[in-house]
Amino acid sequence: LNEEASEEDESDADVIAHRGASGHAPEQTMPALEKAIEMDADWLELDIQMTADDVLVAFHDDEIDRTTDGEGEIGDYTLEELKELDAGSWFNEEYPDRADESFEGVEILTLEEIFEEFGEDENYYMETKSTYLNEDMEEPMVELIEEFGFDEAGNVMIQSFHQDSLQTVHELNDSIPLVQLLWWEVDEETGEMEEWLDITPAPDDMTEEDFADIAEYAVGIGPHLEYYDGTEVIDETFVQTARDEGFDVHVYTINEEEDMHRLLDWGVTGLFTDFPDRMQNVLDER
Ligand code: G3P
Ligand code: CA
Repeated sequence: LNEEASEEDESDADVIAHRGASGHAPEQTMPALEKAIEMDADWLELDIQMTADDVLVAFHDDEIDRTTDGEGEIGDYTLEELKELDAGSWFNEEYPDRADESFEGVEILTLEEIFEEFGEDENYYMETKSTYLNEDMEEPMVELIEEFGFDEAGNVMIQSFHQDSLQTVHELNDSIPLVQLLWWEVDEETGEMEEWLDITPAPDDMTEEDFADIAEYAVGIGPHLEYYDGTEVIDETFVQTARDEGFDVHVYTINEEEDMHRLLDWGVTGLFTDFPDRMQNVLDER
């Protein structure tokens, strides 16, 4: 990237509110989405799963145990049953310094409720989650997007770790921009990065052909920065190569301002963050 292009990209970098402003309020619930909007996030990031009665809901984990007062797999419950759960009190217990009484008893939301509440004014960045459990979720998701006219309005994006899910969306409606999420394991003994599924070799080994395969359906890639042990899996060269190949690069999940500055220096076009306010500070400082 030349200097001019870098500067232009940086000022446009997207603030993607990861599960809403989930550092400040219970993830994917109304308070987290409202706070993300107050913080001027560009996108509301939503993990989408299906209930037992085939309704699309915003929920991250396959199990409801961590973020509600229920237990078991989300897909075993109907929407009516899920609506009875308290999806907020866990946050107050986990983060007493950020607790708020109004979070108690907040509900799991359907994607339709979110679209209805915030409409065309907001941008929605949905992830097709755990598609081995949520079979055939792409068609109802695309239908809902089309019903609201959000494909034409251009305020939706769909991301997934599951390549076949993105390809299915692309077949259903090729005007919805797609982002291929990426994940690399690091070998604990050698520190080497390993090939991920059949989608990408280690970041340094990605060829033009690997990028071209993803470009068949996706406009962007969503790599992580760190492995569990803190090893960084991508660097500036990787980001710039992906940018040169024409991709948006949205890195997850970045919560420290120092990392935000560094990644913006590398030329990323967006960051998933639990703290949209911190990223706004960083963008203001630059
Ligand atoms: O979607 C980007 C990032 O959210 C992927 O990780 O587990 O938080 O959905 P996860
Ligand atoms: Ca996600």
